[in-house]
Amino acid sequence: SAVELVVLDEVDSTNAEIVRRRPESGAGLVPVCIADCQTAGRGRRGRPWQSPRGQNLYLSLGLTFRGSFAMLDGLSLVLGVAVAEALEQQGVVDVGLKWPNDIFIGGSKLAGILVELQGELEEGVVQVVAGIGLNVHMKEAAAVDQSWNSLAMAVPERRWCRSELAAALINSVLRAVDEFAEQGFGGFRARWQSRDIFSGKALVASQGTLAGIGRGIDDSGNYLIADGEELVKVRAGEISLRVQ
Ligand code: BTN
Repeated sequence: SAVELVVLDEVDSTNAEIVRRRPESGAGLVPVCIADCQTAGRGRRGRPWQSPRGQNLYLSLGLTFRGSFAMLDGLSLVLGVAVAEALEQQGVVDVGLKWPNDIFIGGSKLAGILVELQGELEEGVVQVVAGIGLNVHMKEAAAVDQSWNSLAMAVPERRWCRSELAAALINSVLRAVDEFAEQGFGGFRARWQSRDIFSGKALVASQGTLAGIGRGIDDSGNYLIADGEELVKVRAGEISLRVQ
């Protein structure tokens, strides 16, 4: 698919910008927005996303799907695979996925993905905004509540170029999304699972309601936890998991 690329010096959130611009964008073109910094970058679960100027990649794509909102759990994992594969093509090794779709390297978070529903364009056609925040040059950040990493810290021998990374991410995401739209989640399960950082680990749900050993995902992208004999299914968005 061809994209309509908008590059901004500053914006509240590239996801919000896609929502505002979408009605104007030409039919068939995928709107993509990149900003040098965000003043109100947003993360999953209502958290802020630190978005300092000139350092990282803040990228959003406006996607349109035939189908229902129910397919979006799968989409969110598909995007994680697409980002991981793009980074690997750029020579990054040992890229991990933390369910549902955080990108990890060396035990800490390198990139995050925020999938938001924009709405139904018409019966059976849904609009989704997919935002990717990738830490590229960031070396210090105030008020990040989890352990994080950046390409410059994880792979210091390489000079990282944000526009090259953006092109690789956009290509990988569009290819993956086409495959998902045509063939569903099936082809992504093994690609997601081979990068699963929870597999075989003792896990607890953040709410403390559930504990067990990580066993990967099922064919819809739900996470599986072995609690003794029992295999418990966790749906994306329902619960968050961490290593015990
Ligand atoms: C997460 O919490 O892990 C998701 C973070 C997503 C951040 C990206 S940066 C580009 C896009 N615009 C936003 O406001 N958020 C996403």
